[in-house]
Amino acid sequence: MEVTGLAYLVKGEMSEMRYGDHANGYVILSEIGEGGMSIVYLARNRQHGNKVVVKQLKDQLATDTEFVGRFRQAATIMRELRHPNLASVITYIEKSGDCLMVEEFLPGGSLADLIDRGETISEHQALSWCRDVLRAVDYAHQNGVVHRDLKPGNLMLDDHGTIKVTDFGIAKAFGGPRLTRTRAEMGTAAYMSPEQIRNPQKAYHLTDVYSMGVVLYELLTLRVPFQRDSDFNTKQAVVKEPPPLPRDLNPNISKELEGIVLKALRKDPSQRYGGCAEFASRIDFYLKGVPPVTRGPAEWVRERTWKAALLVLVAVFAFLVFALLVVLRALT
Ligand SMILES: Nc1ncnc2c1ncn2[C@@H]1O[C@H](COP(=O)(O)OP(=O)(O)O)[C@@H](O)[C@H]1O
Ligand SMILES: [Mg+2]
Repeated sequence: MEVTGLAYLVKGEMSEMRYGDHANGYVILSEIGEGGMSIVYLARNRQHGNKVVVKQLKDQLATDTEFVGRFRQAATIMRELRHPNLASVITYIEKSGDCLMVEEFLPGGSLADLIDRGETISEHQALSWCRDVLRAVDYAHQNGVVHRDLKPGNLMLDDHGTIKVTDFGIAKAFGGPRLTRTRAEMGTAAYMSPEQIRNPQKAYHLTDVYSMGVVLYELLTLRVPFQRDSDFNTKQAVVKEPPPLPRDLNPNISKELEGIVLKALRKDPSQRYGGCAEFASRIDFYLKGVPPVTRGPAEWVRERTWKAALLVLVAVFAFLVFALLVVLRALT
């Protein structure tokens, strides 16, 4: 029997695998979950002893060359990015037909887990998480990666309670091979933007703004704006219906905060925030009650020039007073 990749390892017939050089040596400890795209394993780095997760692309996707190309590109870019709220991609391995992404292990679980457990999430906590996530997503956008699948299941906590975004750029566009739907995949339609539903290839940075609007809506009201009995009906509602007002679901939400959420959920992308950074600043403003810094460099320069002119004026005035005193003394 030819032995290749993880499929063999997880059957328990071997406890250790090494891919490539020593730095790529990981011991698979257990399978911790399965999502729409990948099977997730807990593993230990042989050299450093720290735990990581290894995400193995599902077989149907690993044979789709177009998808693998996009997955590889996203993984390669993500490996270079460092942000406190991005789950670090440690390395990416393609070996014997397997596509494996090695990622930082996040033991705190996902926001989906917290919601499912019915844990109380304060408004302040929800807003802080969303602001931090939006800043990380914006940083990725600046580096050319769109997430495409932002949802509570992809927002995870590390052991310090810091929120981290996982699974950048790996969402499956329609039209590829049909995947067996897992429980984890159910409900993803609720986070898709209207333009993404109409044309999955059109997912771009404002799509991520929309999905984070859904996440914030859910954290504040404990339900997503659109959830119907089938994905088809959910998608129809996302495209056509206005979202129920958050304040009708949770009267503790202020009118201002309701407006912040609804702006992200506008059907027309051009009516949303201009990007994740703007959405994050708006939330930060709400949290701190301080207007976001909007002054451009030109204004700073103008202000600095004005201050310098004032200083010169004061100096000239002081000199004139001094000269006058000297002259007066000389005359008397
Ligand atoms: N970096 C990580 N650390 C710990 N658990 C993770 C990590 N990434 C994913 N998981 C867990 O693995 C499971 C499957 O994840 P994933 O394949 O990303 O599915 P999903 O489609 O829900 O995003 C989930 O239970 C998720 O919580
Ligand atoms: Mg995920």
